[in-house]
Amino acid sequence: RTVYVNGEYLPETEATVSIFDRGFLMADGVYEVTTVLDGKLIDFDGHAKRLSRSLNELEMKEPCTQDELLEIHRKLVEANNVTEGLVYLQVTRGAADRDFAYPKDAEPTLVLFTQEKVLAQSPVAKTGISVISIPDIRWGRRDIKTVQLLYPSMGKMAAKAAGADDAWMVEDGSVTEGTSNNAYIVKDGVIITRNLSNDILHGITRAAVLRFAQEAQMQVEERPFTIEEAKAADEAFVTSATTFVMPVVKIDDAAIGTGEVGPIASRLREIYIEESR
Ligand code: PDD
Repeated sequence: RTVYVNGEYLPETEATVSIFDRGFLMADGVYEVTTVLDGKLIDFDGHAKRLSRSLNELEMKEPCTQDELLEIHRKLVEANNVTEGLVYLQVTRGAADRDFAYPKDAEPTLVLFTQEKVLAQSPVAKTGISVISIPDIRWGRRDIKTVQLLYPSMGKMAAKAAGADDAWMVEDGSVTEGTSNNAYIVKDGVIITRNLSNDILHGITRAAVLRFAQEAQMQVEERPFTIEEAKAADEAFVTSATTFVMPVVKIDDAAIGTGEVGPIASRLREIYIEESR
């Protein structure tokens, strides 16, 4: 693969980052994952805007302009012949002597690479996934897309150990989000998903799906929902750049609705893929 590091396109084996990089030492960095479908980027603008916001919240420099970022994304997709998959982008505060205070003169590190992945025809979407519930013990700024992903990784491992696919995180009785996706339930035809705040990542797929749902005259309620409400829901699903709309058919030991993929989740998945192509 060809990857991008700080202005250069290189074979992945020749790409390097300093051992003093604060992303490596302190998870002092942010990231974005943009999907590629039919060789085209989905929602690039949304991802670029959220990146700017994450950088701004952490007082980090923009490594380049949005147009330059788009150019890098396109070049990598082309160089690696990606028709379906993703572009991963990471910006860190850069390399400096280890110190908790931000360095004054560090230049941001910008890294991008591509990964091929079957997305639209994912067989899992036909059967749905199962999730376990775990406490949300992450920090209070989940709206910033930082590379501190150890707890979500632990959640994923706990899910696998329990024979499930993923985990939904619960705080004060309500579901915040999945390990790497936004969470939804459907009750009596109403799509319910947690409102935006610092408690969750402001998903780019979430914004698109809610817009498509409203255009299709579906009813949407943005509010926290409890894990009990979720277990008693008619349908459940998650959204993210790499899963699109993914039905959830089981939460802990409770089958959701009929225990099979529901009509609203599958319709939204179809619409999302159609509209994104
Ligand atoms: N994850 N919530 C969390 C905690 C996430 O990590 C993600 C995305 C989302 C969905 O956001 P979006 O729709 O913009 O992808 C919600 C990416 C895909 C990842 O970490 O791989």
